[in-house]
Amino acid sequence: MIRMTKARVDLPCSIKIRIHKDLRETEEFVRRALSVGVDFITVHGRTRRQKSTESVSIEGMKLVKEVSTVPVLANGDVFSIEDANRIVEATGVDGTMAARGILENPALFAGYSTTPWECVETYVDLALSYGTNAFIFHHHLMYMFERSMSNAERRTFNSLTTIPSILDYLEEHYDLDIARMRAHRAAQKIKE
Ligand SMILES: Cc1cc2nc3c(=O)[nH]c(=O)nc-3n(C[C@H](O)[C@H](O)[C@H](O)COP(=O)(O)O)c2cc1C
Repeated sequence: MIRMTKARVDLPCSIKIRIHKDLRETEEFVRRALSVGVDFITVHGRTRRQKSTESVSIEGMKLVKEVSTVPVLANGDVFSIEDANRIVEATGVDGTMAARGILENPALFAGYSTTPWECVETYVDLALSYGTNAFIFHHHLMYMFERSMSNAERRTFNSLTTIPSILDYLEEHYDLDIARMRAHRAAQKIKE
């Protein structure tokens, strides 16, 4: 027999919601989330039916913040630190969360407007150290190179299918040197 106990697990629990086109429904949804004890709420400022090309609802995200008694993060269309600040200011939320923006530029919240080469190197290093598959490896790099590659470069890069061929490409076209990169990172760690 399984004995049910009322154990409390001390882990934060959050919820991510979208807004409803009827904002009273959004408000009700927030109240329900609060009633079950969520620690914070992330709100994607689009309805379920809206495409990511449509702009987010500042009004909807602001309402979620007003109704909520726990911290609220706004999500949608954060592609720069300026976007994040603008949304925080307009809605009063406690922070923002990015998906496409951070995939393309992992240094976005550090204030970089374009993906620094160090991000690419760090990603390559971590992916190779922890292990990944060619599809995911390729996909993350495609995101990171989205704005910097020309169409012709992208066509060649997108056709690569194995990790060694991707590394060869980066060595040839971007001067990636894994041994140098690791030595540099190890020296930085010692300094810290
Ligand atoms: C590659 C990718 C995967 C995603 N996967 C999920 C998911 O599993 N669950 C979810 O709620 N939203 C998912 N989303 C949506 C994002 O979390 C986010 O709400 C949406 O992209 C809007 O934020 P953005 O404008 O910063 O991209 C995904 C988005 C992307 C780009």
